[in-house]
Amino acid sequence: MTTPCIIRGLGHCVPETRLTNADLERMVDTNDEWITSRTGIKERRIAAKGETCVSLSHQAALKALENAGMRAEELTHILVATFSPDAVIPSAACMLADRLGITGRMAMDISAACSGFLFALETARAFVTLHPQAKILVTATDVVSSRVDYTDRSICVLFGDGAGAAIVTAADAAAPAGSGRVLDVLLATDGSMGELLTIKGGGSGTPYKLGEAVRSDFFVQMNGREVYKHAVRAMSGICKTVLEKNGFTKDQVDVFIPHQANLRIIDAVGARLEMPAEKVFTNVQKYGNTSAASVIIALSEARAEGFIKDGDLVLLGTFGGGFTWGSALVRF
Ligand code: COA
Repeated sequence: MTTPCIIRGLGHCVPETRLTNADLERMVDTNDEWITSRTGIKERRIAAKGETCVSLSHQAALKALENAGMRAEELTHILVATFSPDAVIPSAACMLADRLGITGRMAMDISAACSGFLFALETARAFVTLHPQAKILVTATDVVSSRVDYTDRSICVLFGDGAGAAIVTAADAAAPAGSGRVLDVLLATDGSMGELLTIKGGGSGTPYKLGEAVRSDFFVQMNGREVYKHAVRAMSGICKTVLEKNGFTKDQVDVFIPHQANLRIIDAVGARLEMPAEKVFTNVQKYGNTSAASVIIALSEARAEGFIKDGDLVLLGTFGGGFTWGSALVRF
């Protein structure tokens, strides 16, 4: 039996530096019309020197703690969903705990590409079930720009950097107003599709020798067309399943937050779910695809802007490399 959980604080952080479509026109053979019509993206935020997975996670975590009315010392577990940690060792979670000034906590990274936030949220729910007093920091952060080849026009227009954070605890009586109750999370993977979206270079399957120049496999490689088809099918399917499993109809959903990969995927998933456009929150236009951070940034922003109101039923959907995909229902 799962202990009921709440998200009692949210925060997000994106780098200051903007990379616009006009900037990209000067870097590769592309244009605003192509990027806008294929993806809806107008600009993305790119980490400056010194801005990293851990520094962005730290900023988002401080905001989530403030939003929850909690101090870092109260945290019991730290989870960081990312494919782009500052280092292989130490983990981003250990580095984040250190930056928050806390030691002795369980801290670990979770790798599920663009579905990272929901994989970490479900892990947090499991920890809360094991340890009902747990106060868990979940951050989902990617500095995708560190693994993008800015000479590859098919990839570099799509991605941006950012971080989101949520504080997850048991749904106790002291839950502050404005908390979101996590009703369910569904997750899925299919490793047989893994080759369609990869970053292999530097892994133990594709190691580099000292002094060797990085190859294109060090950067995101993707079969865009195939990923598009699977993303639409998988995300709409798992969103339908989570609604059916919990006895909700699509009409009872107040806000739908899909993975912010691109507007065409979002529109196609929205159409399959028969979700009116005014219920669908999007910010991909200004951030691009921030991978693991995408839905948590959108959730945090939608809540802060009042797009999500008290009492709203929020449906989240994700899809990413692996393949990984997921859905969740949160009642605010
Ligand atoms: N600017 C201009 N032309 C570009 C371009 C760019 N940035 N990137 C690719 N092209 C060209 C291609 O070279 C190709 O040219 P060709 O016909 O002469 O060979 C043409 O545009 C069509 O490319 P194609 O890949 O077939 O376009 P598409 O309609 O499939 O759109 C994506 C490309 C990437 C936008 C689309 O496939 C997509 O959204 N995929 C999902 C990607 C994604 O979101 N992944 C992350 C999920 S977690």
